[in-house]
Amino acid sequence: MAIVYSITNQKGGVGKTTTALNLGVALAKEGKRVLLVDNDPQGNLTAALGYTPGEQKQNLSKLLLAAIDAPEDLELHFPRSILHTEGGVDLIPANGRLADAAARLQVMRLSQASQYHDKGESTCEVVMASVIDRLKGNYDYIVIDCGLKHELLTVNALAASDYCIVPVQAHFLASEGIPDVLGLVKSVRERFNPRLKVAGILLTMYQSRPQLCQSVRESVGEIYGQEYHVFERPIEQTIKVAECPAAGVSILDYAPRNPAAESYRSLAQEVLRLG
Ligand SMILES: Nc1ncnc2c1ncn2[C@@H]1O[C@H](COP(=O)(O)OP(=O)(O)OP(=O)(O)O)[C@@H](O)[C@H]1O
Ligand SMILES: [Mg+2]
Repeated sequence: MAIVYSITNQKGGVGKTTTALNLGVALAKEGKRVLLVDNDPQGNLTAALGYTPGEQKQNLSKLLLAAIDAPEDLELHFPRSILHTEGGVDLIPANGRLADAAARLQVMRLSQASQYHDKGESTCEVVMASVIDRLKGNYDYIVIDCGLKHELLTVNALAASDYCIVPVQAHFLASEGIPDVLGLVKSVRERFNPRLKVAGILLTMYQSRPQLCQSVRESVGEIYGQEYHVFERPIEQTIKVAECPAAGVSILDYAPRNPAAESYRSLAQEVLRLG
């Protein structure tokens, strides 16, 4: 049964998508069966794997809507919704239509708030979990890339996950977003998913030169290191990583000897050690 990871931080541009892609590919290169889930209407993960998001008619939005409207037929959608990519990982793609599913979940939330719901009845926070649970038998790891805009999509991802990884840009004030994510994780754990844990905080876009990066690393360690794991190797900021989305491949395939590729392999080793 797959172990499910969400990559999340409510701050934008911190390396969530880059981490989802490269962690997934690094795990696949270790012989693991990996499914990546693009849970962001921007479709950046879909694009980073070389697909045009707008062309993906079968996507996460369709699966979420099927899970709401016709859960008994959900499995029939899987063969067409899962892409087998050249990077060796499978992908459930996303595009702007995911905003429709987010809106639908929001409507469910409003109607939930206005009426009594029996325990066990499907709620708007666990729709994604109902999709992911049916896919777990086919994979060793499922990695969900979260977006920013629709909190309910992130709540759904966390409710479906065993672990979350919080990427944090090693720049001034970037770590300010951490308390928000940790608060959200705590609330999802208490309300919907008691098994959810923080696997760790991952420093991204790290430069060894500016003293600033090192001081962010130290302060994240000091503030959060007691309670949370901080992954051993920060991910270096390198131009090769920035070039990857246009090439449609991971850094592990684009420039396997790049320091950032080595760091993502190290992250994968830490993830493998978690079980
Ligand atoms: N280690 C790195 N070195 C250089 N560029 C990087 C690195 N990591 C990410 N980037 C670049 O920074 C930008 C933001 O990264 P990414 O898309 O992974 O962030 P994100 O948190 O998913 O953003 P969003 O909040 O928009 O979803 C991208 O252009 C990406 O290619
Ligand atoms: Mg992203």
